[in-house]
Amino acid sequence: MGSIQDSELVPKHSTISPAIFYWGTPVVLITTENPDLSFNIAPMSSAWWLGNRCMLGLGAISQTTINLLRTKQCVLNLPSDSMTGAVNALARTTGSEEILTAKPDEGYKYFKRMNGYAYVHDKFGHAKLTPLKSDLVRPARIMECPAQMEAELVGVYEMMQDADTKGFIALEVKVLRTHVHEEIRMDGKENRVDPDKWRPMIMSFQELYGLKWRKIDDSVLARIGEEEYRGFSNAAEVEAVN
Ligand SMILES: Cc1cc2nc3c(=O)[nH]c(=O)nc-3n(C[C@H](O)[C@H](O)[C@H](O)COP(=O)(O)O)c2cc1C
Repeated sequence: MGSIQDSELVPKHSTISPAIFYWGTPVVLITTENPDLSFNIAPMSSAWWLGNRCMLGLGAISQTTINLLRTKQCVLNLPSDSMTGAVNALARTTGSEEILTAKPDEGYKYFKRMNGYAYVHDKFGHAKLTPLKSDLVRPARIMECPAQMEAELVGVYEMMQDADTKGFIALEVKVLRTHVHEEIRMDGKENRVDPDKWRPMIMSFQELYGLKWRKIDDSVLARIGEEEYRGFSNAAEVEAVN
């Protein structure tokens, strides 16, 4: 009997060496506070959630990272798939002035300078977005984003310690309070977002996508009630949603 490898049922494969591994994750607009007390916004998408924690993968030289490490506070604002105008306005901008004079030996900073990044101080004005005061942290929320999570930094991990190319950090933040637009809430449910109404923006290999306008199938995982997971979130989150 031939091995499975020989079967005609195996799809044709080949190996590739991708320069990026952005398989598709939601876009997050992170707001942080600058040293002059103004607010910075950065689009990013190396983000995932577990319990009430979010892991953020960020370049160490980003103004967002510098602000987050200093103040320990941010807001994770989730744009809907109709907000490409704002995300593209913020793309290839940085709140770090150092970009203007970056030298060839300055890694990601120089990469940004060479790849058309612009220094923008007033990101809210630049992207025509509206700041809203947060309840528990200093950085402003973004009014136009249907979901906004006030969060604080609880952990830092330097990525790629085994490699020559360093400069990327994984930051664990704890969600303290979640705000959502009425139109994405589930009817009759106090604490739930309706996935049939929520239209996240997805970044896949640098391109912007939305999700299909319908569930692709019933989900076996979704047979577990959402409240069963509440034990993995902390008291602050329970307080926030009531
Ligand atoms: C859709 C999108 C997704 C991005 N994802 C990330 C990311 O996950 N991590 C990251 O470090 N930069 C990401 N970037 C690039 C940052 O926006 C960029 O580094 C920016 O200069 C950061 O701004 P700041 O320096 O003002 O913080 C992304 C950009 C766009 C437009």
